Amino acid sequence: MPHVTQDEVASSIPINLVAPDAFSGWCDGQSDRVKTWIDANGFTGKEGQHLVIPGDDGAINSVVLVKETTSWDIWSLAGLPESLPEGIYHLAMELEASLATEVAAGWSLGTYIFDRYKKSEATFATLVMPENADADEIKRLVFATNLARDLVNIPTSDMGPRALEAAASQIAGEFEARQTNIVGDDLLTYHYPMVHAVGRASSEAPRLIDMVWGDSDAPKVTIVGKGVCFDTGGLDLKPSAAMLMMKKDMGGAAMALALSHLIMDANLPVRLRVLIPAVENAVSGNAYRPGDVLISRSGKTVEIGNTDAEGRLVLADAMTAADEEEPDLLIDFATLTGAARVAVGTELAATFTDDEGLFDGIEKHAKAVNDPVWRLPLWSEYRSLIDSKIADINNSGSTGFGGAITAGLFLKEFVEKSKSWVHFDIMAYNNRARAGRPIGGEAFAIRAVYSYLKERYAR
Ligand code: BES
Ligand code: ZN
Ligand code: ZN
Repeated sequence: MPHVTQDEVASSIPINLVAPDAFSGWCDGQSDRVKTWIDANGFTGKEGQHLVIPGDDGAINSVVLVKETTSWDIWSLAGLPESLPEGIYHLAMELEASLATEVAAGWSLGTYIFDRYKKSEATFATLVMPENADADEIKRLVFATNLARDLVNIPTSDMGPRALEAAASQIAGEFEARQTNIVGDDLLTYHYPMVHAVGRASSEAPRLIDMVWGDSDAPKVTIVGKGVCFDTGGLDLKPSAAMLMMKKDMGGAAMALALSHLIMDANLPVRLRVLIPAVENAVSGNAYRPGDVLISRSGKTVEIGNTDAEGRLVLADAMTAADEEEPDLLIDFATLTGAARVAVGTELAATFTDDEGLFDGIEKHAKAVNDPVWRLPLWSEYRSLIDSKIADINNSGSTGFGGAITAGLFLKEFVEKSKSWVHFDIMAYNNRARAGRPIGGEAFAIRAVYSYLKERYAR
């Protein structure tokens, strides 16, 4: 939110809120000039509509926003910065502090543009921070969300495994977290064989990014993110249309970094660990093949049914490493399956866990902060769909049915000692624009989990 001077605050334009059923009464109280203006604009005061009201001098006097406040959430004002004329505005109504914080964050998120490669001429309306809003929390939420968006939007040419490592280092540096990167053939030495196998065909070395922060005695929360910087499908090559979007296949890593930023910035009393297998699933003479059998970090053998089911392989080794120190809570984010998108669409985070209490907690917070999750089952009877005749497990299902579930069941094989585990299969991308959410990279489920963690680990 740009800095606004006291004078600008004093002369800022009020946004008046009118409930839909109070609209006609509100109109009756207006001057003839304003009534004419309302009619001339064909403004009927439907829920969600707004109208700029001129003063006698022809300048903008105020904005009327017709909206029911009962259903307000973070996105309720997020369309205004783009649709209002450039200028400085304030909310004329008093909102409850947490709602003021949310809508102000949403306003700020509505000014996001990905202008790294093309200068934008867009201008936005500025909001004076509501007095009772939590400015630190707004900054935190906006920074993390936009970080996730940027990391996903930056194409692989500038966000390969090495650049993803650098992005992690920048965050680690900011909060004095310790970071270890295991790169290239060292992955074999330190026993991350599947991260190596998936990533070895790329001209950029695969790596395991491992970040640790916080008091070593605090409860251990570990976040794992799928960092497939580009997913060609490997030798089971994706067709063009499916490959086109695959710069976003490090979306899980983007969520892991953005959520970690929230946790560290808010100084939550946890011992945080972030594990990101960063690879490119590429095609080359040394690429791993369909039919290969890999020996995972856990010792389990994995038959490769499809080289395009690479995410679960790199995650499995990272999750085995996470599991070794028996964390209190293990969270993973991944753009893991097309099947999850078929099941719940692109705008819900498909969520898997066997921990009922954990899901209830996350769902409660997801609803409260409007960052939706939808639970899918880890249906154990489908485990036989990923049986292998020659190895402990196959990386792809014998049928495509229930593909998000079989992917979840695959990951579950590598979680043994963690006290609790939740897996998010996410889109990481807006396919269509909504208020404050342009087409492109998007944060999924991180505000929900952050809100949950804040309550669970309250000081
Ligand atoms: N990265 C993709 C999954 C994906 C596709 C996420 C489209 C979001 C949008 C993943 O690596 C993949 O290709 N999965 C395959 C698995 C299959 C080969 C078992 C899929 O979902 O088709
Ligand atoms: Zn794939
Ligand atoms: Zn993938």
